[in-house]
Amino acid sequence: MGIPESIIQQIVAKVDFLELVGQYTSLQRVGDRYRGLCPFHQEKTPSFYVQPDKRLFYCFGCGKGGNLFQFVMETEHLTFPEAVRKLAEKVGIRVDPDDEQSLEKGRKQDALLHLLKRVAGSFHYILMHSSRGVTALQYLRERGLEDSIISKFQLGYAPPDPYWLKKFLEKKNFSAEFLQESGLFTHRNPNRAFFVDRVMFPIHSSQGDVIAFGGRILSGEGPKYLNSAESHLFRKGETLYGFYQARDEIRRTKTVVLAEGYMDVLALHQAGVETAVAPLGTALTPLQVRLLKRFADRVILFFDQDEAGLQAIRRAAILCEQQELEPFAVRAEEYPYKDPADFIQNGQKGELQKIVKYPIPILEFLLKKISLKKDTATHPGNLLKVEDLFPYIESMVSEVRREGAFAQIADVLELDRESIRKDFHRRKWIPAPRMEGQEEKKPEVVQRTPELVLMILSMESRKNFEEIRSRITLDDFEDLRGKELYITLEEMYRQEEWSVDRVLQSISDEALKDFVLSKLISSEFKTNQEKLINDSVLFLKRRNLERERKQVLKAIQRCEKTNQGEELSRLLEKKMYLDGELEKLRAVENE
Ligand code: GTP
Ligand code: MN
Repeated sequence: MGIPESIIQQIVAKVDFLELVGQYTSLQRVGDRYRGLCPFHQEKTPSFYVQPDKRLFYCFGCGKGGNLFQFVMETEHLTFPEAVRKLAEKVGIRVDPDDEQSLEKGRKQDALLHLLKRVAGSFHYILMHSSRGVTALQYLRERGLEDSIISKFQLGYAPPDPYWLKKFLEKKNFSAEFLQESGLFTHRNPNRAFFVDRVMFPIHSSQGDVIAFGGRILSGEGPKYLNSAESHLFRKGETLYGFYQARDEIRRTKTVVLAEGYMDVLALHQAGVETAVAPLGTALTPLQVRLLKRFADRVILFFDQDEAGLQAIRRAAILCEQQELEPFAVRAEEYPYKDPADFIQNGQKGELQKIVKYPIPILEFLLKKISLKKDTATHPGNLLKVEDLFPYIESMVSEVRREGAFAQIADVLELDRESIRKDFHRRKWIPAPRMEGQEEKKPEVVQRTPELVLMILSMESRKNFEEIRSRITLDDFEDLRGKELYITLEEMYRQEEWSVDRVLQSISDEALKDFVLSKLISSEFKTNQEKLINDSVLFLKRRNLERERKQVLKAIQRCEKTNQGEELSRLLEKKMYLDGELEKLRAVENE
């Protein structure tokens, strides 16, 4: 059984981390960190660091790192619960409840599920039948959703009065203490609802219990979507939106359609594609794939038709292939719509259905994106090089399948099969620099993007995040890993708490976790933070302006050809505006 988060927190607070680590290696203070010989691999010069204020460790030699529980897991070769128990014993905290306690816990969980179900029902009622829900309902209808879908997914509306929910529930005799633990209210003010003036998407467990909510903003400022905080009921990385509604159809057809967001899932179901699900705003995780694998043999990836979407498709394809779930993609590039929701909004139900009916294997899809020109690195848009296919091929479990892939690449690109194979193996043969006694590490390197720099600075202090979020939004981010961190940080920020460890635990991408941890432990981001923030923010702003400018220029060319005067003058005005903004940026940068 899971150990309650509160008990884990108590243990963290009580253990003296430095003393614990000090039992395995002698540590010396350097600045605000401590350094020593790594207890996990043989070394002569110390590359093992401890950051006591964040209670983290990391070895730059072998890459092992984490919090105090991971330290005990590694040193004592224990599982997580075993490590927790061991530390709990050390500091005199009881972990295992006796029967009476666990019964009580079960009762509490039932009560919580009951509460969430009831709240989902109330939100739905308000949306459909109350005058307060009119704007929200109109919004959903304008986006092309039919009432049958709104009901199937039990969409709702959380009213603008932040104190309404508390008053409403107190009347129903829920205790204040219980409500505070429900995740429906903010940490700082237990009377204030977490979701305010938002369209509500109940998130169900596979069994159909409401375990959390997603909420989309209607007006005002704030993140476009908010999700309930994680709890023992709700783990974002293990949950898929729409899975409960899609489960039977997935089982029947052995196929699942994976989309990017809430609205896309609804759109697909409305088009009769009742196997559609989506992750909750973050990249697909291995646990989500495992869940799908229990019911399906094929995954059809239907992501946004843009560069980020292509990046997401490539990552998702690898995860699916690793678990032998065959990935497909849809062919939607000749339509002017960016995602499934866009099709529905424009009344294209039939087209949407058709697209999903004729997906193509992912390799065929990626091959269409290949350009053999040398300079694809500097190429704009959705172009790939042959090497970009290798990580996907490497993820194939079956040797036969891999051979088939080589043959297909050779055939489509008119290349020599042997040469491709050689290139593929050569890449694998380059041995990553390794130290003695070190386990093999994944060669994947995380790029130090401005987005990631900003997120690491945010993890350094909440104040930094406050500054960053006041200057840019999630839409300014391109880097998917950066996006994922932003979403987690924003949710934590809203919950009025700030725990670096919580963020680290939420990262399922090992390479990213390693990168973040090593940066947090190194002194790289400890100084000059203001300048780093400023430079990175300006970089992102400029990149976005330039991208927009490029699109406008393209549109202008098109207009000139077709002689659309009115549209043309609108575009020219837009271009002037963008030029002005870029000029302003330049002035700031030169200050
Ligand atoms: P709509 O504008 O409602 O159509 O959303 P979208 O689907 O176009 O949003 P987008 O493609 O930007 O995002 C896809 C998914 O990412 C959403 O369904 C959310 O799950 C998630 N997402 C987007 N923005 C945010 C955000 O600000 N916070 C969180 N937590 N998730 C987000
Ligand atoms: Mn979208």
